Amino acid sequence: MSRAVRVEGTGGPEVLRVVEVAAPHAGTEQVRVAVRAAGVNYYDTKVRNGSIPSEFPRGQGNEFAGVIDEIGADVVGLGSDLAVGDEVLGWTMAAAQAEHVVVPAKHVARKPAGLDWAIAGGLGLVANTAWRAVSALQIESGDTVLVTGVAGGVGLLGAQFALQAGALVVGTASESNHEFLRDLGIIPVSYGPGVSDRLRAAAPDGYTAALDTVGRAEIEHALSLGIRPQRINSVAYHPGADEFGISVVGGGKKSAEELARFAQAAADGAITLPILATYPLTAVRAAYERLERRHGLGKIVLTVP
Ligand SMILES: NC(=O)c1ccc[n+]([C@@H]2O[C@H](COP(=O)([O-])OP(=O)(O)OC[C@H]3O[C@@H](n4cnc5c(N)ncnc54)[C@H](OP(=O)(O)O)[C@@H]3O)[C@@H](O)[C@H]2O)c1
Repeated sequence: MSRAVRVEGTGGPEVLRVVEVAAPHAGTEQVRVAVRAAGVNYYDTKVRNGSIPSEFPRGQGNEFAGVIDEIGADVVGLGSDLAVGDEVLGWTMAAAQAEHVVVPAKHVARKPAGLDWAIAGGLGLVANTAWRAVSALQIESGDTVLVTGVAGGVGLLGAQFALQAGALVVGTASESNHEFLRDLGIIPVSYGPGVSDRLRAAAPDGYTAALDTVGRAEIEHALSLGIRPQRINSVAYHPGADEFGISVVGGGKKSAEELARFAQAAADGAITLPILATYPLTAVRAAYERLERRHGLGKIVLTVP
């Protein structure tokens, strides 16, 4: 037997349960991973509260890190060099928050030895999303980029990718996160009443692009700063494509090579993902209660002891 998170239906964190299930097994071209850490994402909340339509009951969790403990038949090409005992990180759909997850071998990348389990388990989704969003904006040296929600997972990594591309980065965050953000090279600005004036003061020469991770009002702020809609990308407000003509590129497409690159960058210190909190799998409700407060620096991760 194996334990897994199950979402019983729409509702708050109280509809989350940890249940005993038959242990899954690796089929053709698949590996089974004994999960050590799995990311907690706001996407899961949107599914659970009905804003992303879904069927219930269902599993939960789209990213994980762990140790391969079973390899199926006929693993060829990408992933064919994997062995039982290898430490990996990878992605799946609505199944990562569990003691075991089975995925195609090509959906995992090796975990660098020095990379913390919690970071490995929580990095993939936000790094991929941030990378695709920043790539869509074609950020380059000379850009001044506004990142809204810069203390969150996507914001932190998006800001760091934009800095690496040579941009000046200004991000909105609560005061308590400013010192950490400054140390990364980000210019932090408090959100709330008067934010547009503070953003203008932070970049007197103006902004050329924006990555929004918060929502509609933040897109309006970006437009009021004179940023062209074509150079605003939101991962948080998809109707913005029709409403404002902005782009809404997120993390749909994934690749094991890129995941390996993000993991190596995190292990080398080239990117930083602070862990806001970890909770054992059995405390999944508490993890989502924390996430749904919508404040704090970095990533929440479930761990499997
Ligand atoms: N399209 C996709 O593929 C995709 C993928 C991943 C995520 N997303 C979406 O992107 C959004 C962000 O995800 P995430 O994982 O980065 O979230 P997260 O890590 O949970 O972000 C929460 C952060 O939001 C900040 N925040 C809250 N209200 C704010 C405001 N009004 N202005 C500025 N910052 C504010 C908080 O910072 P303070 O502590 O500073 O208040 C906190 O750090 C979510 O809506 C998520 O569903 C989309």
